Amino acid sequence: MTQKRAFVTGITGQDGYYLTRLLLEKGYDVRGIVRRTSSMSRRRIDQLKDEMPDCADRITMQYGDVTDAAGLIRIIMELEPDEIYNLAAQSHVRVSFDKPAYTQAANTDGCLNLLEAVRLLNQRKPVRFYQASTSEMFGGLPETVPQSEKTPFHPRSPYATAKVAAFHHTMNYREAYGLFACNGILFNHESPMRGENFVTRKITLAAARIKEGLQSGIALGNIDAQRDWGYAADYVEGMWMMLQHDEPEDFVLATGEAHTVREFLQEAFSRVGLDYQDYLSIDSHYFRPTEVELLCGDARKAREVLGWEPKTSFSELVQLMVDHDCELARQERAFHDLGRPAQAT
Ligand code: NAP
Ligand code: GDD
Repeated sequence: MTQKRAFVTGITGQDGYYLTRLLLEKGYDVRGIVRRTSSMSRRRIDQLKDEMPDCADRITMQYGDVTDAAGLIRIIMELEPDEIYNLAAQSHVRVSFDKPAYTQAANTDGCLNLLEAVRLLNQRKPVRFYQASTSEMFGGLPETVPQSEKTPFHPRSPYATAKVAAFHHTMNYREAYGLFACNGILFNHESPMRGENFVTRKITLAAARIKEGLQSGIALGNIDAQRDWGYAADYVEGMWMMLQHDEPEDFVLATGEAHTVREFLQEAFSRVGLDYQDYLSIDSHYFRPTEVELLCGDARKAREVLGWEPKTSFSELVQLMVDHDCELARQERAFHDLGRPAQAT
């Protein structure tokens, strides 16, 4: 059998790391695009290459941007991938209120640009497309819980409205042109690879750094919001499963359990033997003009049709993130200590 080729946008992000790892384990060649920035943003992929040296030659990166339609068409027509995973996005909900037009360009137009390229390639050879849709599209109104594929959308940020449009483009290209195009409606998923300005990682880094004396406190916004948090490594498996299924369909991936930000804080700080209340301040800067109060998903369809299930519990997730960040904090501490003048005895 010939080696499968996958094209991944957003390869430098959290999910890009875990999905690429999974695809390499399954024998794929993986091509990713990376944005040109003034300093390199390939930290996670470089780490992956170190962790899987025997597979490093099956990852190729090239410059590209999902807002550049012509560039995408050129790359995709040259590469002729079997599967395309569109993970690229301006993925921060709070930031989307400050950058609404850019968020729409990356999150909606980026998806549409890819779908056009997929449509072209599909005339030459079959190709399967995954769109990273999100539970944010539901808006988290308490009367809709638990949210499933049948729950109506009520987007409450420029991020979510842009993702709703991309969801519909993906569905429309499937229906209009017969493309194998799926939406994965993923609830929050976290890991040690999570960006530092999402709430879980902000908390686990703070707990670890406070424990090591590197930080004095943590400022947060709404700690009563509830999220359905799973582990990113489990969720990328669901993405891949959607593209192996016989029919292109949309699926929710979730754990079915909701926890408040406060509970996450409590669990993370107690892992390092601290009481979060001694270190927490509330800062209005972190509140959003419209909040998504409660996300809790119903992933029955993914379980029954794909056989997908989350494997990592809330407590296990918090623990693995805190333990990872404690190791980072110890290294940071050791680095600082090296630079200190020796104490006079
Ligand atoms: P992330 O860590 O923020 O990664 C986003 C990726 O998109 C990065 O590689 C980023 O590149 C890239 N990107 C941003 N704008 C781009 C552009 N214009 N052209 C090309 N690449 C661009 O996000 P994530 O957590 O891995 O999430 C992956 C996808 O799933 C996103 O679409 C997100 O909206 C969606 N999603 C995430 C979750 C979750 O809980 N994590 C849940 C539901 C849906 P740089 O490295 O250069 O910034
Ligand atoms: N980021 C952040 N920073 N969030 C905070 C803070 C803070 O200091 N304080 C409280 N929060 C609250 C937010 O108001 C929100 O209710 C909750 O913590 C989670 O915020 P994030 O971690 O930023 O994630 P999100 O739920 O807004 O969005 C993530 O999940 C979506 C799926 O539901 C992102 O990964 C999105 O890209 C993804 O689509």
